Amino acid sequence: MVVFFDPVLGCNLRCKMCYFSNEVKRKEMKGNFNPEDLPRVAEVIFKQALKLQIGCGAEPTLYKHNVEIISLAKQFKVPYISFTTNANLLTKEEIYRLLEAGLNEFTISLHGVEKSTYENLMQQASYDKFIEVMQLLTEAKKQYPHFNIRVNYTVNELNLVELNHFFDVYDSFAIDILQVRPLQDIGGIINHIEKQQEFNHQFNKITAILRDICKSRNITYIAPIILDEKAKENTSSSVVESTYCYISPKSFWDSDMDWRNETFRQFSKRTGYASILFKRIYSKKELTNTKLNYDIN
Ligand SMILES: C[S@@+](CC[C@H](N)C(=O)[O-])C[C@H]1O[C@@H](n2cnc3c(N)ncnc32)[C@H](O)[C@@H]1O
Ligand code: SF4
Repeated sequence: MVVFFDPVLGCNLRCKMCYFSNEVKRKEMKGNFNPEDLPRVAEVIFKQALKLQIGCGAEPTLYKHNVEIISLAKQFKVPYISFTTNANLLTKEEIYRLLEAGLNEFTISLHGVEKSTYENLMQQASYDKFIEVMQLLTEAKKQYPHFNIRVNYTVNELNLVELNHFFDVYDSFAIDILQVRPLQDIGGIINHIEKQQEFNHQFNKITAILRDICKSRNITYIAPIILDEKAKENTSSSVVESTYCYISPKSFWDSDMDWRNETFRQFSKRTGYASILFKRIYSKKELTNTKLNYDIN
């Protein structure tokens, strides 16, 4: 499984494409994962994890026990640990503490190449602080050469064209992976693309250019293959869903699991989970249109 862990349901920013820009939704998002429960989570779930992603639907730098989560994940031999953040609260000390604990990847979210776009789309964020953190991460590679710097760029009509200048601006940063993904409607104050066809055309053009540039720089480039109706027609084995494990202060993966009192093995035995999984391998069902097929170069 890939474990997606939101240890905190809150955020310091109000990005316009994200539900944190929506007053009502923001009020619904609250809670801190009880640190005393972390060892139990690790024991029950981390053993099953091929990857742990800390920060999924909220901002993980607001949590005080991230080093503990990473240390536990290392203890249970999770092969890849990633941390997804807006970077605005990261300090040099925190970066080195997380790397020292065994973090494999920082994923930094970015909604603009230009300062004005960045600060407009990522309300309450500081572009200067973001640049400072990118410099710190690049510098940290001297001591920790094996961790990856990934940039996630969520795109809409307001920040698409400036992607053409991405490497003019961010040339000096040691980026390993660049993912560009179009906005989806998750309830933010910007929740759709006005001129979809025009956007798709531009997106495909820019993606073709970025793919080549990334290749020449030895950077992995990830973007949707297509942005038209075909993406919605795609089917996949529903086993995909079984690889997704979400944990937050409000929910714990399969609601049927009594995780405080049973082990994964006991849960599997009680529910016949192995045979459920086996059946899912052969069941085909349509992917929802929120799931895009990505091309990884
Ligand atoms: C919800 S954030 C949570 C983690 C952290 N706060 C961050 O921004 O990296 C996770 C990712 O969702 C992306 N995102 C925000 N709004 C989006 C939208 N409307 N559609 C698709 N992705 C979005 C962000 O850019 C970020 O990379
Ligand atoms: S995208 Fe991340 S940083 Fe921006 S508001 Fe949403 S959770 Fe916060």
